[in-house]
Amino acid sequence: AMLAPGGRPLAGRHALVTAGPTHEPIDPVRYIANRSSGKQGYAIAAALAALGARVTLVSGPVMLPDPPGVTAVRVESAREMLAACEAALPADIAVMAAAVADWRVAREATQKLKKEPGAAAPVLEMALNPDILATLSRHAQRPGLVVGFAAETEKVVQHATEKRLRKGCDWIVANDVSGDVMGGERNTVHLVTAEGVEDWPELPKSEVAERLARRIAEAMA
Ligand code: CTP
Ligand code: CA
Repeated sequence: AMLAPGGRPLAGRHALVTAGPTHEPIDPVRYIANRSSGKQGYAIAAALAALGARVTLVSGPVMLPDPPGVTAVRVESAREMLAACEAALPADIAVMAAAVADWRVAREATQKLKKEPGAAAPVLEMALNPDILATLSRHAQRPGLVVGFAAETEKVVQHATEKRLRKGCDWIVANDVSGDVMGGERNTVHLVTAEGVEDWPELPKSEVAERLARRIAEAMA
């Protein structure tokens, strides 16, 4: 159904959004991170709030101000992000735009690693992080509409279609990150649903967010 412009079609709905990178500690002064700026996720949180939703934004470390009208929860690691998401349930809508680190350092050192004279460089053993999107998609309190992102550098739609089934989410926003998307202002995405694939034109991240929020409002109507 088409929505009247200017309405608040998501009034009374709770939307959970993740954004930004995660930081995975090595020792008290070092961490592993990625290039996510958080811009796309923050824009989605703002766009859902503009349509009337109550929005909880669980954000990794980013240089962005909290969007107006949004409850922001700041976290660092993937495990903290999962805990904050579960604490925010129940939600009607979940949009997982965070670039969650796939791995963390298996044993975080409690003291700063020291460069002993003559010693070899340390080898970091990694452990698999929890998958927040897959966990929420199979959660006892699963949100009614779960939307994931897929950052891909090749075979974008094919990988995203496989990811949608593997993770158990409803939609995947497939994102071609082979260019300067990470940190940039524009995004080219494909919306993968059970019904098929919508190719969206290259748009500013703010317009990708507004279009996705409207699409979500239509699906919830
Ligand atoms: N995601 C998540 N928790 C993780 C890893 C990813 O919630 N530990 C979410 C992301 O927020 C995104 C989706 O899963 O919505 C896909 O992330 P992506 O990195 O593209 O997929 P992966 O399954 O991690 O596969 P790969 O990185 O190998 O492509
Ligand atoms: Ca990943």
